[in-house]
Amino acid sequence: MIETTTLARLPTTYKVLYTGFLLVIGAGLLMAGVQILLTHGMADGKPGLSINDIVYSYYGNRSGSKLESMLNGQMKPMAPDDVRFQMIQWARDGSPASQWSSRMEPLFQQYCVSCHNAGSSLPDFNKFENVEKVAKVDEGASIASLTRDSHIHLFGIAFIFLFVGWIFGLAQYPQRWKLILIATPFVFLILDILSWWLTKYFPIFAWLTMLGGIGYSLASTVMIFTSLAQMWLPRERWLGFWAGREKARL
Ligand code: HEC
Repeated sequence: MIETTTLARLPTTYKVLYTGFLLVIGAGLLMAGVQILLTHGMADGKPGLSINDIVYSYYGNRSGSKLESMLNGQMKPMAPDDVRFQMIQWARDGSPASQWSSRMEPLFQQYCVSCHNAGSSLPDFNKFENVEKVAKVDEGASIASLTRDSHIHLFGIAFIFLFVGWIFGLAQYPQRWKLILIATPFVFLILDILSWWLTKYFPIFAWLTMLGGIGYSLASTVMIFTSLAQMWLPRERWLGFWAGREKARL
């Protein structure tokens, strides 16, 4: 019988090395999750990650501009109806610069800049560029930012899962499930990136983005916990649990 290296039989040096790596990666994945909740989670204005957040992040909210939705929502009490109507109309006309100083600037000065000024953390509406930004229809992620995020993700995450899979490859685990678990993050990585691009054009694909995230998280959680347990817990504790059917052969 060929003596194969398993996590349980690794020299302590490598156990310590792999454990350090897995713990840091585990913490990194948790932080990534928190970051997603903070950046995308609030995209629809409500806390918690929902399909709408993903749609707003990649596809945008094309029903109108941020200016319009705020003037019909939270900012409604800030100006009388006819002023709000003029602002919305101007935004819908494509926020032409020609009408800014003559018509729009005085309205923003009167009703908005008491809060929206350089001294606040809000967009400064003394400047046309800042008003123009919120008056544009929100088309979601730009091609430039998608290209940048895609290649960073593909390169970076592939390496993480190469090493996590490498270590987990030494675990005693039913072979078929082992192969599935090692392959899963790579498949979902491709699906995830693909879904960003698809969602940019077809919001329905936001579901795929959600699924991709869940896929990685599950596979990496199982791989990390299994590897750690097999390196440090006594064999009897996990052998029946994970390697049940293969027990006879070990
Ligand atoms: C009493 C202070 C106040 C006044 C006056 C006010 N705003 Fe605001 N505005 C806020 C605050 C606070 C927020 C941030 C709300 C949030 O993020 O939940 C905000 C957010 C916004 C945003 C979203 C900005 C972004 O990039 O997220 C827009 C657009 C906006 N206001 C438009 C207006 C317009 C137009 C007026 C004038 C008719 C106006 N506001 C008057 C306090 C004010």
